[in-house]
Amino acid sequence: MPEKPTHFGYQDVSPEEKTEKVGAVFDSVAGKYDIMNDVMSLGAHRAWKRYFVHTASIRPQHQVLDVAAGTGDITALLAPKLNANGAIFVCDSNAAMLEHGRQRLTDCGLLKNIYYVQARAEALPFSENNFDRVTLAFGLRNFTDKDQALRSIFKLIKPGGQLLVLEFSKPKKWMSSIYDAYSFKLLPRMGQIVAKDSESYQYLAESIRKHPGQETLQLMLEAAGFEQCDFLNLSGGIVSIHRGHKLTA
Ligand SMILES: C[S@@+](CC[C@H](N)C(=O)[O-])C[C@H]1O[C@@H](n2cnc3c(N)ncnc32)[C@H](O)[C@@H]1O
Repeated sequence: MPEKPTHFGYQDVSPEEKTEKVGAVFDSVAGKYDIMNDVMSLGAHRAWKRYFVHTASIRPQHQVLDVAAGTGDITALLAPKLNANGAIFVCDSNAAMLEHGRQRLTDCGLLKNIYYVQARAEALPFSENNFDRVTLAFGLRNFTDKDQALRSIFKLIKPGGQLLVLEFSKPKKWMSSIYDAYSFKLLPRMGQIVAKDSESYQYLAESIRKHPGQETLQLMLEAAGFEQCDFLNLSGGIVSIHRGHKLTA
């Protein structure tokens, strides 16, 4: 755990408080998470995630780690790309989210070579130089120590492997006021109506604003050891896909 204070949305909190509060958010939203994603993004998250997995250039035999996998949307898109030699490790710190994911993926018949691990991204329990790809979708902004998590992920990737991050980002200036009105006024109300939980969706809006923009995140990946880093904006920068390579062990 880092000693330095961090934030939970707009509140300054200790690292321990952040871990606890983020855990409480995902305990609270787990049952409604999938429907809320569709409602909040008007379905756009499905297209973002499909494109994200497309950019990962998955080979059939790849060993993939899906960090902050939640209810398994990314895993579900990755699984059909693998053969019997490939494997996906579905990893999340929250037991409720992971269990929803396990049930959903099992109901879809996705069983083979999928392993579930409850762990925090800051301290991942895998051996070094192990994965061809690590995917991290909409998880990073919730982490207590993002730099530590990126370093922990870096160690696990094989030389020649890649980290791919899909995350809310800084939209273009012209859409900022519409986006602000949407996320601070409409989003918590929708959260209240659909999930009976406006606070978690207020946190979502605030955590997006506190998350580093595209250029800063690229510097963070480089500081963690990644090379040939780049990013691609989707939907005018509402979200972006970041990619970093590990070139040597
Ligand atoms: C917004 S959900 C994203 C789920 C999924 N990847 C998706 O794109 O739908 C964020 C997930 O990050 C997980 N999470 C939060 N902090 C974490 C941490 N420190 N380590 C691992 N997972 C974490 C939460 O439990 C939650 O399931």
